[in-house]
Amino acid sequence: MAAKLLSTGFRHSTLPENYVRPLSDRPRLSQVSQLEDFPLIDISSTDRSRLVQKIHQACARFGFFQVINHGVSKATIDEMVSVAHEFFGMPMDEKMKLYSDDPTKTPRLSTSFNVKEEEVNNWRDYLRLHCYPIDKYVHEWPSNPPSFKEVVSKYSREIRELGLKIEELISESLGLEKDYMKKVLGEQGQHMAVNYYPPCPEPELTYGLPAHTDPNALTILLQDATVCGLQILIDGHWFAVNPRPDAFVINIGDQLQALSNGVYKSVWHRAVTNTENPRLSIASFMCPDNGAVISPAKPLWEAKEEEAKPIYRDYTYAEYYKKFWSRNLDQEHCLENFLND
Ligand code: OGA
Ligand code: NI
Repeated sequence: MAAKLLSTGFRHSTLPENYVRPLSDRPRLSQVSQLEDFPLIDISSTDRSRLVQKIHQACARFGFFQVINHGVSKATIDEMVSVAHEFFGMPMDEKMKLYSDDPTKTPRLSTSFNVKEEEVNNWRDYLRLHCYPIDKYVHEWPSNPPSFKEVVSKYSREIRELGLKIEELISESLGLEKDYMKKVLGEQGQHMAVNYYPPCPEPELTYGLPAHTDPNALTILLQDATVCGLQILIDGHWFAVNPRPDAFVINIGDQLQALSNGVYKSVWHRAVTNTENPRLSIASFMCPDNGAVISPAKPLWEAKEEEAKPIYRDYTYAEYYKKFWSRNLDQEHCLENFLND
């Protein structure tokens, strides 16, 4: 049975069967640890070489880090969060105007991950938007709440600046030219997922989002300031990434793992639910141009002695994205389909 929106205001007292995971695939929340040394990076630092070094360590070890003093204003963030809450709080008939279970459609309000294909559903509703170039997409965005377009435009613009700045730092941290990513990734797209995880009656039996890696280049996540839910897999163990209200969580996507020839990791992560509070998260995805050819950066393997070689074959982002959406979210790492022999 295909799931419909969860954000109805109705509080379930037991978990509907279509959300119950098999025993072998449950969150085991009591076994999740706190990550004490999760990297926190002040990207306003003027000590560029130290900053670049910190980015390198974070990307190589965790594939994830948090940034503070990121240049996105507090007002922009607060307005984005409140318009997102307002959006999910609208009456069902207003929201259903945007509902679709077709993953190729944007904008769309949907639920779970890919409802038509899945066997078990996920405890999440989400609004998916294309955000760049804004002028091309803004007209198709929701017109309710009335401030939606203005607020989301402002947020997306500021996030893009941050994303491009981080891509420069990441390029440098690999010993590449500052504008390496910018050149290779072409005219980058920007997508947004506004995720809404309602309180869940049985968080031990299901996921908000099951373990996955992000198929794009770089993800900039605004976590709910107070409600925990994001977890990442490090050395085979799940760790919670607790929210910091002044920080964005940044993670390496599959494309940067490929470009870095595996030096940086696109790490498995998931979102879990809780019984008490709804959780909101806003993910912004920097995506290579569809025609961009992704290949391990030459300077990372060419000059090396011995048998250093590109781990991944060349492919276009369009080819990758198609492969990604043809799978289940929690299957093998999608990059494994693009290994060199
Ligand atoms: C995602 C994601 C995590 C979260 O949208 O890709 O990983 O905390 N979200 O909502
Ligand atoms: Ni993700």
